Amino acid sequence: MTTPAGQTETGGSTPIGEEALRAAKVLHPDENFMPRPTKRRVLTVANQKGGVGKTTSTVNLAAGLALHGVKTLVIDLDPQGNASTAVDVDHRSGTPSVYEMLIGEVSLVDAAQVSSQSENLLCVPATIDLAGAEIELVSMQSRESRLKEALSAEALDQLGVDYVFIDCPPSLGLLTVNALVAAHEVLIPIQCEYYALEGLGQLLSNIELVQKHLNRTLSVSTILLTMYDGRTKLADQVTQEVKNHFGEVVLKTIIPRSVKVSEAPGYGQTVLAFDPGSRGAMSYLDAARELAERGVEGKQE
Ligand SMILES: Nc1ncnc2c1ncn2[C@@H]1O[C@H](COP(=O)(O)OP(=O)(O)OP(=O)(O)O)[C@@H](O)[C@H]1O
Ligand SMILES: [Mg+2]
Repeated sequence: MTTPAGQTETGGSTPIGEEALRAAKVLHPDENFMPRPTKRRVLTVANQKGGVGKTTSTVNLAAGLALHGVKTLVIDLDPQGNASTAVDVDHRSGTPSVYEMLIGEVSLVDAAQVSSQSENLLCVPATIDLAGAEIELVSMQSRESRLKEALSAEALDQLGVDYVFIDCPPSLGLLTVNALVAAHEVLIPIQCEYYALEGLGQLLSNIELVQKHLNRTLSVSTILLTMYDGRTKLADQVTQEVKNHFGEVVLKTIIPRSVKVSEAPGYGQTVLAFDPGSRGAMSYLDAARELAERGVEGKQE
């Protein structure tokens, strides 16, 4: 028999009880607020390899921070609009979106919507109109820094956000360059599988080019290992290789492969909203806390 706190009468715990406790930790964060950063943080989530967990990490880290009192903005910079779907904001064609923001038709404040999942979670959606932007931008003035201009300090102050996550498409084109110019930090999700590091060299050299010519303050601050499958030896090998290569920028929290994580977007939800007691939700919450603690000066390890 179990008590409401998930403990058995003999003092042990049951899987269901543990899950309920985890869910309570996610959903009732009052005593568990995450620290606000010393300075506003703008992170670009990039990896030109497709399907490595960029969008999943963007929306779940953002939701983790938002649910714990930190106002967070997601910029959906991928014409697929997956981040907009996961945080459940309107992104039908014609909705004021990141496309209109890039071409200077609407301001950040007018394009940002509040997610139904948390009043601290905002999102500038991507509509299908963004699909042509990569080409349209080529002939525009200051084509690499249009997102940076839209994300001005004044506009971000007006929204009152402490974190901005920019979800990139799986390419190194002008949209990703705009994201790298607009951010201070790059967060690279790496999938724990074979070929994980392939193509990373190209991403890193693009980041170096941007650092040299367009954004001196940019740095790769965070690597997040995703879709870890503990049953395979390979996952451990990749994890070790990434840690050897990148050292302390790799978050200690590793995101496991979990069906709940992949099911959540189908319900227009982050996994934190969809199944807060799941391992996937907990691990994204842990990763968000680690990220938040690194953002407080004097607290870095
Ligand atoms: N931890 C996880 N466990 C199980 N499935 C996951 C996990 N993380 C992501 N997925 C699933 O893997 C697929 C790719 O994830 P996601 O869309 O986040 O990657 P992406 O890098 O944004 O892809 P793209 O390059 O197309 O933008 C999605 O179907 C997602 O639901
Ligand atoms: Mg994506």
